[in-house]
Amino acid sequence: MNEAPRIIEFPEIGNSILGYIAVAENNNLPFEVKRIYWTYFTPEHVERGGHAHRKLEQVLVAVAGTIRIKLEMNDGQRSEFILSKPDHGLYIPRMVWRTIKYSHNAVQLCIASTEYAEQDYIRDYETFMKTA
Ligand code: TYD
Repeated sequence: MNEAPRIIEFPEIGNSILGYIAVAENNNLPFEVKRIYWTYFTPEHVERGGHAHRKLEQVLVAVAGTIRIKLEMNDGQRSEFILSKPDHGLYIPRMVWRTIKYSHNAVQLCIASTEYAEQDYIRDYETFMKTA
């Protein structure tokens, strides 16, 4: 069975007087990092996502603001996560349908296991539900 989405707590260095550093590296991530990109200035009324990935695995981090992520696996299991701590990441395995909304100030870091490939996307929900 496909692995379930889960929160990863990254090691945090620092204190409230100095501020903090959070660290993601290959030895505390569920996959080898191939690529990093970030999403920002998404208007609050916009829902992004609406797709799954055949191979791509991701860890999403709200480095600023709040991100609400609704997930569905194609066995029907659903989950919802609210990311608002910069030292927390959400691991999304392959074959998970996601819809995402952002607070006005949200900056979402995406740590990705593969390069961008449009062929890896499943953008049709019915196709997703039928794909083994
Ligand atoms: P998409 O992954 O669908 O965005 P989200 O899940 O955040 O709603 O990407 C939006 C558009 O950007 C889509 O047309 C594909 C394109 N895109 C790239 O060209 N390169 C990239 O690295 C990514 C992630 C997306």
